[in-house]
Amino acid sequence: MEFVTLSNGVKMPMEGFGVFQVPEAAICEQAVSDALAVGYRLIDTAAAYFNEEAVGMAIKKSGIPREELFITTKLWIQDAGYENAKKAFLTSLDKLGLDYIDLYLIHQPMNDYYGSWRAMEELYEAGKIRAIGVCNFYPERLTDLCLNAKIKPMVNQVELHPFFAQTGAIANMHDFEVIPEAWGPLAEGNHGIFTHPVLTEIGAKYGKTAAQVALRWNTQRGVVIIPKSVHKERMEENLNIWDFKLSDEDMKAIAVLDLGHSEIIDHSFAETAKFLNGWKIHE
Ligand SMILES: NC(=O)c1ccc[n+]([C@@H]2O[C@H](COP(=O)([O-])OP(=O)(O)OC[C@H]3O[C@@H](n4cnc5c(N)ncnc54)[C@H](OP(=O)(O)O)[C@@H]3O)[C@@H](O)[C@H]2O)c1
Repeated sequence: MEFVTLSNGVKMPMEGFGVFQVPEAAICEQAVSDALAVGYRLIDTAAAYFNEEAVGMAIKKSGIPREELFITTKLWIQDAGYENAKKAFLTSLDKLGLDYIDLYLIHQPMNDYYGSWRAMEELYEAGKIRAIGVCNFYPERLTDLCLNAKIKPMVNQVELHPFFAQTGAIANMHDFEVIPEAWGPLAEGNHGIFTHPVLTEIGAKYGKTAAQVALRWNTQRGVVIIPKSVHKERMEENLNIWDFKLSDEDMKAIAVLDLGHSEIIDHSFAETAKFLNGWKIHE
């Protein structure tokens, strides 16, 4: 495993395990237990995934020393604002059964996220969070936050995979020393990624699968990845990417696959903001 150093000096694993769309407690707990057993140490959850308790249970049962883990969770839109964010953070901490979070992220650039950010800055300064960041902040929002906040975000988690490479957005993150983290690093299975001819052909040279090539490509351009799977053999496959290196030629061949837009979600659509604001996680 390789690590990246965040702007505040905290070391973050370059690969972790995501648990989006695993709301059922028993399945999630088993998946996280399996992920920890095969070697993942970064777990990425969110209040809006409805599985923080299951993640916490798997962490507790694993017996892995807390300092070896890197736990991320996220603040949902409904809980935006200074007071709400402080409350929501404590709820997440309680559900996870932890007394600090390694990385706390604003899940969407919506509602009163400046109020949320001030609360997160204070929690960070109080030592309750080791690093703070955002998700889905496209360049104009990220730039605005970086220019106006007391503490700049250390991470921006956005959709990043060979079909949506976002090289411009990554360059913008680098301008502010923000580390890019990929959600959907396997394009959520879209676009025939697991059998894609270009990725498969490159993989054949190294004895690797198309999925491993896609994941390796992101890490080689400095992007942290958090692939999700509920299958142990796929978890192992996805983690087994640290013993080979794509050539410059391979990297260029993969860069050509970029469609320049997401096939999953477009944050510039009014309908997306309506849909996400309508997603409620509590009364
Ligand atoms: N901040 C945000 O707004 C945001 C948005 C989306 C996701 N995320 C985070 O990012 C994480 C990863 O993204 P994601 O879960 O959306 O998608 P993903 O990791 O790109 O893809 C997951 C899909 O690929 C399948 N899969 C995984 N490895 C495979 C392999 N080696 N071979 C074949 N199929 C494989 C999984 O199926 P099985 O499970 O059946 O194996 C699942 O259907 C999430 O879990 C979450 O933590 C964050």
